[in-house]
Amino acid sequence: MDASIDGVKPLPPLQIGDYTIPVPIIQGGMGIRVSANGLASAVANEGGAGIIATVALSLASQYYQKGKDYFRANIKALIDELALTREKSPKGIIGTNCMVAIKDYEAMVRTSVEHGAQLIISGAGLPLRLPEFAQSNPRAALIPIVSSLRAASLLAKRWLKQYKRIPDAFVFEDPNVAGGHLGVNRKQLFDAQHGSDVVVPELAEWSRKEYGDEIPIVTAGGVWDRKDIDHALSLGAKGVQMASRFLCTYECDAHPNFKQAFIDAKEGDVVIVDSPAGLPGRAINTEFTRTLFRGGEVADHCFATCLEYCLCREQKEAFCVAAALHHAQQGNMTHGLVFTGTNAVRHNKIVHVSDIFDEIRAGRPAPS
Ligand SMILES: Cc1cc2nc3c(=O)[nH]c(=O)nc-3n(C[C@H](O)[C@H](O)[C@H](O)COP(=O)(O)O)c2cc1C
Repeated sequence: MDASIDGVKPLPPLQIGDYTIPVPIIQGGMGIRVSANGLASAVANEGGAGIIATVALSLASQYYQKGKDYFRANIKALIDELALTREKSPKGIIGTNCMVAIKDYEAMVRTSVEHGAQLIISGAGLPLRLPEFAQSNPRAALIPIVSSLRAASLLAKRWLKQYKRIPDAFVFEDPNVAGGHLGVNRKQLFDAQHGSDVVVPELAEWSRKEYGDEIPIVTAGGVWDRKDIDHALSLGAKGVQMASRFLCTYECDAHPNFKQAFIDAKEGDVVIVDSPAGLPGRAINTEFTRTLFRGGEVADHCFATCLEYCLCREQKEAFCVAAALHHAQQGNMTHGLVFTGTNAVRHNKIVHVSDIFDEIRAGRPAPS
């Protein structure tokens, strides 16, 4: 867990609330079940923070039976994942990613804090009520994901007024490079003003001025190797959230076909899809997206009413994002939607999570 290696400056630990993360890397939550107990525990054992994505965890569990008790099954599946992660990483820092846009958001937060999650990372909407849902464990660190200073400032003020607490950290997610659902609309995409080089220094300065530096800023999106981490820290971030880098690891919880999709992908294979959640999403161009772009039928219809707002359920438009992400995780590349950050096309083989941490600690460049 020691971050120091001969001649290379050790990375500073990341302090969030009561928790010290020895290597300042939070593994980004990846749904559906791309980051579950396997990946989260491996990252936590290396000294980063391991994060379970809570969305639709039941789909690949013993608890869900088609059409029945989806929400109750999600709770049971999350309890299992937290227990397994803790069993595999007795001392590591672990947490969950809970999406505001999901109907069982409150249940996912409540279950997380009651069953040992130390960090709750929450985005895909503004987590205005997160402190209320997490109140049964005041030690749990609450970390909203934002895409702008405006959102961070509004949220911090609201929490202070309503709950007499501020966020324990913010994750800023750069929509120009991050994977999954993105925090800006299509028109705002690829505008450098929304990127980390602009927004992270703004957030760091704001945290210093308004909150005495008590809200650490963690940057997400496009962080791949030690050079990127050093750059993020030079912008004023106290840590990074990395997701795409961990996709092609033995410990990543998705099917080998899913991992192979990144190894096969080349530059130019990353596309933007309109998710039924009303947000753009970044994905690999696969048979699924090609059919979608042709206006073809991409099969599955709403089966779990999982989203608060869903174009597939309400307007019969778009596609069932839960089904599409689940197919991909299960290795069905014909019907699967493969979320990705722009960097993930750089993968060329499967490695262990420990290889990535060794490389970063040693300050070596990533293999090309
Ligand atoms: C396959 C995949 C699934 C993701 N799922 C989620 C999710 O369920 N919730 C969430 O808040 N972010 C999700 N993200 C975003 C990541 O947590 C992370 O913030 C982002 O991808 C960081 O950029 P990077 O991939 O370049 O490291 C996902 C990203 C990927 C690649």
